Amino acid sequence: PTELVPVRQAGFDSDLLMRGFVMEDMRALREAAVAAGHPLAVQSAYRSYSYQDRTFNYWVNLQGRQAALLSSARPGHSEHQLGTAVDFRSANGPPAWDLADWADTPAGAWTVANAWRYGFALSYPKNTQEITCYIYEPWHYRYVGRELAAQLQTRGVTLREWLWEVQPY
Ligand code: DAL
Ligand code: ZN
Repeated sequence: PTELVPVRQAGFDSDLLMRGFVMEDMRALREAAVAAGHPLAVQSAYRSYSYQDRTFNYWVNLQGRQAALLSSARPGHSEHQLGTAVDFRSANGPPAWDLADWADTPAGAWTVANAWRYGFALSYPKNTQEITCYIYEPWHYRYVGRELAAQLQTRGVTLREWLWEVQPY
């Protein structure tokens, strides 16, 4: 992707990168989370092909390939390579995947309930593994803009299902 900028531009204390056009809504989400009393931090954002290769292999070494495939994308297949995906965690908290369910924490619950208002769709919601092919990831969001995020939220469909509708293959 072109035009990768540090999420610091949206007020996060991090030099991880995302597409520039995401910054305005990243800032809006960050400020809303602070106002709600649940400040967030960015755990992971843009990942290059080679970074994703290392990430995937880290999980393969830890869990074995079959388990890793359910929670980590192979290089070239991750939304993180687009520069529009982000993994959040609670500010001052551990990586969200170290918790049984980050959505059971106040910050996680707030994010799952409200991120769509700022254009961020939860890519891998609870009980959608058959559809998304990944286990539940309450921390992983893809920026799709406010209009589409609201539409997905209202219809209760994942981004993947919407993509199948508009671009069947
Ligand atoms: N954890 C998600 C599926 C990724 O690796 O992109
Ligand atoms: Zn992620």
